[in-house]
Amino acid sequence: SQNVVTAHGTIMSCYVPGSRTRRFSVSSRCTTVMPAWVIDTYGNNDVLRFTKNASFPVINYPNEVIVKVFAAGLNPLDVSMRGGHGAATLSMKRDPLNIKQTGSEFPLVLGRDVSGVIMECGLDVKYFRERDEVWAAIPPWKQGSLAEFVVLSGNEVSHKPKSLSHTEAAAIPFVAMTAWSALVNTGGLSKDNCAKKRILILGGSGGVGTFSIQMLKAWGAHVTVTCSQNAEQFLRGLGADHVVDYTAGPVEEPLSALEKFDLILDNVGGDTERWALNLLKPWSGAKYVTLVTPFLQNTDRLGIADGMMQTAATVATKALKHLVKGVHYRWGLFAPSGPALDEVREMVDAGQIRPVVEETFSFSQVPQAFEKMEKGHARGKTVVQISKGGQD
Ligand SMILES: NC(=O)c1ccc[n+]([C@@H]2O[C@H](COP(=O)([O-])OP(=O)(O)OC[C@H]3O[C@@H](n4cnc5c(N)ncnc54)[C@H](OP(=O)(O)O)[C@@H]3O)[C@@H](O)[C@H]2O)c1
Repeated sequence: SQNVVTAHGTIMSCYVPGSRTRRFSVSSRCTTVMPAWVIDTYGNNDVLRFTKNASFPVINYPNEVIVKVFAAGLNPLDVSMRGGHGAATLSMKRDPLNIKQTGSEFPLVLGRDVSGVIMECGLDVKYFRERDEVWAAIPPWKQGSLAEFVVLSGNEVSHKPKSLSHTEAAAIPFVAMTAWSALVNTGGLSKDNCAKKRILILGGSGGVGTFSIQMLKAWGAHVTVTCSQNAEQFLRGLGADHVVDYTAGPVEEPLSALEKFDLILDNVGGDTERWALNLLKPWSGAKYVTLVTPFLQNTDRLGIADGMMQTAATVATKALKHLVKGVHYRWGLFAPSGPALDEVREMVDAGQIRPVVEETFSFSQVPQAFEKMEKGHARGKTVVQISKGGQD
């Protein structure tokens, strides 16, 4: 492919064999750089830096695509990554053979959801064409979406739901792929086996919880959630059958009085493991899946090898301890998947899942978006509009 900068410096054309020449609007005069929010060191909000000179992403593998970002979604992970959480493991994933040897992942672009259009496809990409409207969840070891362009593997990308604008679409992929990994891949749930299953979601009012409620209701499950009292009506509106206020006292008491559950999704962590597994139906294949795991903390603290050993020992011990009581203990970990996002798109376009956008910020307001995220008590997702396009 070939990039051409016009006299005005605002047009880029790329030629892909077998396709027409295409034109894309870029804001930079030079197509080797692009605007982005980056960090050059780990720390608090002060480390966020806007630059017009971030490196333009390049296709390194034939299965990759470059996406022009219209909207980016933020997640609690972006806030913790800004502070250096997971740096050891993520650096190893970025450069497994330590080829660069600089030890530097900076400048690092955050932002784990993207909605936009395909700008360029690698030679092996058959499923997408330039200008396709797409959405994706970006793995934490890749450069993020708080930039004008991002490069991703074609396997991670999916056609965006037609019924959503880009800012709405950017609220879904990362929480959807986290919930999918926990509930489907780890929890064994599917649209065919959920009918009448009793599911408990601890922490229902954030990004993962609001998505999970809707998907499980679409699949016919009975869903109980915990949240603070002011989120009750909101979660009932999303379909939750039973809502328990965790701020009203020890939440395990009202939950223990209920019929036991087939699966618990834990978004809260902390001391929930002490009591939550007692709420499962024993000897029935019931599972507790927690998204709050010490995996990245262990590798940050102990290094990759010892951290992974410690992690394996911890999860094996806990799994065994609970197995003898007749319930399964599992960790849920985010996994990107274009095919899974295709299924989510169908549910969205069928009106079964709607985006829950708590607040939308402009590209210049990224520090304010992070400040809002740090306050916690999310009621859905924080989205940043990067550029105007599509239905926005
Ligand atoms: N393992 C992985 O790969 C992975 C990937 C993504 C996310 N995660 C983790 O999954 C969790 C959920 O992510 P998210 O994006 O949904 O976070 P989020 O949007 O920040 O939502 C968390 C929600 O939990 C609620 N909450 C806090 N303490 C609670 C308690 N004791 N009982 C019930 N609810 C409580 C908060 O609402 P209130 O206002 O009601 O307190 C908040 O809305 C986070 O811990 C995140 O770190 C893990």
